[in-house]
Amino acid sequence: MKALYSRIVGYLNRELDSKRFLHSLGVVQTALVFAPLLEADIEKVCLAAHLHDCAKCMGRDRLLQIADESGCCEGTPDRDFPNILHAPVGAHIARKEFGVEDQEVLDAIRFHPTGCANPSRTLTVLMAADFCEPTRNFPGVEEARIAIRRDLVGGLSAALGKKVLHVEETGRPVHPRVYEMMESLKHA
Ligand SMILES: [Fe+2]
Ligand SMILES: [Fe+2]
Repeated sequence: MKALYSRIVGYLNRELDSKRFLHSLGVVQTALVFAPLLEADIEKVCLAAHLHDCAKCMGRDRLLQIADESGCCEGTPDRDFPNILHAPVGAHIARKEFGVEDQEVLDAIRFHPTGCANPSRTLTVLMAADFCEPTRNFPGVEEARIAIRRDLVGGLSAALGKKVLHVEETGRPVHPRVYEMMESLKHA
């Protein structure tokens, strides 16, 4: 396990720019604190948090090439959403490079930018941590932090709702899985 994590951190240190490297460490730290709030499996959360953005600094052409070669976007609209391509490709790298086989961990990495219907606790914790880890500094982040700490599911739901409104206002398409996630959180 120790060897796996030194390999992962070495990979992130090589492949990510400083901002994204620090972000990844912030997500790990925050996700470990949030996991008990939802009684999530700490080992799954830890692994998913480390690897969630492992493909974030890859160029678009390379992302598309890996997506097409691996088939990791088949049956999904992900190819049409360039900003989230790093997630299915990241899950592919987690399996290929690091031998991750746990489906809950792989799905958390794969779905982290959008969520999905019936999200696992690992995915819900990862998304909450991704949203408000300490290096995030968008307007309103402090309110989101407070809301998420008070009520992880409710706070994440509110944060996603605001994000969707913002994307809808700019006229850009919202990935359909985001709506599925919001609906599932309502009934969680
Ligand atoms: Fe990401
Ligand atoms: Fe992230």
